[in-house]
Amino acid sequence: MTMRSGYEEPGATVLVAGATGGVGQLVTAKLLDRGYKVRALSRSGDKVQQLFGGAEGLSAAIADLREPSSLPAALEGVDVVVCATGTTAFPSKRWDGGNNPEQTDYVSVRNLVRACPPSLKRFVLTTSAGVERSGQFPFSILNLFGVLKYKRMGEQELEGSGLPYVIVRPNRLTDGPYTSYDINTLLRNTSGSRQDITLSPKDDLMGETSRIAVAEAIVQLLPLDFVEGRHFSIGSKQGDGPGQDAAKWRDLFAACAQQPQRAGVA
Ligand SMILES: NC(=O)c1ccc[n+]([C@@H]2O[C@H](COP(=O)([O-])OP(=O)(O)OC[C@H]3O[C@@H](n4cnc5c(N)ncnc54)[C@H](OP(=O)(O)O)[C@@H]3O)[C@@H](O)[C@H]2O)c1
Repeated sequence: MTMRSGYEEPGATVLVAGATGGVGQLVTAKLLDRGYKVRALSRSGDKVQQLFGGAEGLSAAIADLREPSSLPAALEGVDVVVCATGTTAFPSKRWDGGNNPEQTDYVSVRNLVRACPPSLKRFVLTTSAGVERSGQFPFSILNLFGVLKYKRMGEQELEGSGLPYVIVRPNRLTDGPYTSYDINTLLRNTSGSRQDITLSPKDDLMGETSRIAVAEAIVQLLPLDFVEGRHFSIGSKQGDGPGQDAAKWRDLFAACAQQPQRAGVA
């Protein structure tokens, strides 16, 4: 596979959709810390300002992903897209205005995928454990309002788009969202004694995943060519883990990428 250059270089511009959310805020802070430029996409300019106001290398794109007309301007000059948007699996205030799983996990992802220029270097989509097991307990309960079905439909939209993609599927998320309004404080959070990582090419994990681990995995996979077109299920477990060591992350991804993703799928 040829190496696509550009996205891994400091100075590359990454659009983070869901930048004000739990995973998105950590991805944004980590990318800024490592010299990337980040365009934080949110429906709320106030939230972006509160979380990241004044950070060097940060710009904001105020857009609702359900509204395709707002997306071309947000994507102008972007090298990489990281999408970590979401809503609750069950009815809540966050569904107000129709922002339910169908609209957030499928329609919005579809709109973002379709708005990307063909020159995009990489699209990293965060979905969930259980997208291929939505009929099986306990995922069948989580999927009562369709969240896993719609997340899988979002994945399929990306898989069929022709864009270079990576899909990350966490278990139930822990650690965050954080309410600190300071990037350095945000970066100092840890997942305690559960810093080790399980990666799987199949949708076969259960348990918990630290948002810190998901964000670090996303940042670490950006320069790796061999992860392209792959799905990675990610879990957190007791132990030290790779931390921010690029060589250790590369080994973890490489071991996972050598295995088949699903029965019969290379
Ligand atoms: N919670 C779990 O246990 C769990 C488990 C597995 C996977 N996941 C998935 O992992 C991902 C990250 O989860 P998280 O809990 O860290 O995220 P989160 O805190 O729920 O943040 C989601 C973000 O999505 C943005 N968003 C929602 N609707 C939008 C729209 N119509 N247009 C633009 N932005 C929109 C919101 O930003 P604004 O309000 O600023 O617009 C929000 O900050 C999500 O896909 C989630 O479904 C979650």
